[in-house]
Amino acid sequence: MLKDKSLRTICLATGNQGKISEFESLFVDLPVKMYLKPKGFEVEETGDTFAENARIKAISVARETGYWAIADDSGLCIKALNGAPGVFSSRYGKSDLERIQRVLGELEGCDVRNAYFSAAICVASEDGSVLIEVAGLSKGLITFTPRGERGFGYDPIFEIESLGLTFAEMTKQKKAEFSHRGKAFKKLKPLLKKLFSDYPFP
Ligand code: IMP
Repeated sequence: MLKDKSLRTICLATGNQGKISEFESLFVDLPVKMYLKPKGFEVEETGDTFAENARIKAISVARETGYWAIADDSGLCIKALNGAPGVFSSRYGKSDLERIQRVLGELEGCDVRNAYFSAAICVASEDGSVLIEVAGLSKGLITFTPRGERGFGYDPIFEIESLGLTFAEMTKQKKAEFSHRGKAFKKLKPLLKKLFSDYPFP
């Protein structure tokens, strides 16, 4: 059992409950103590890409808190909408329900349902240096009606074709296997482990 002082403190630069629980499962067997970013500390997402936004958030939160910070930026890109909502995924409506309704409305009468989720993750140190950057992608189809109760965001309308299930119909473990963030986590984990062994604990 690791002593508390041997744990590396990392600040998670999100307030999104759905993402927090996915990050908790990433850290479950790593020597990490996770803190959430200070309430009210909002970082403007001014980047044109998921990678840029993840970098902006990780660097700002690391500098603000004095801890290493980890941030993700992610979103849904829909072929028939020329990649929208993309980096505007969280701003495509006032609530998850409104955002889902908007997407389904914009796709009404359209049979081209191809879409993908993309996630970029960045880890930055307290001085604002970028330590790790990874990305993950998950291809799927936009359903005609929402299905499932689990997950968050656009999960009820994003189906993995080979399974015939939306993310909202999957267990957490199944979603992690197929999701953009789950795939990015798989790349991130060995890099984080290496980083911990390269850097002495504070
Ligand atoms: P941000 O990365 O916090 O700027 O926002 C990403 C937005 O994309 C979220 O608020 C969700 O609406 C959507 N999103 C990202 N990842 C997922 C996911 O795994 N499932 C469903 N929606 C997601």
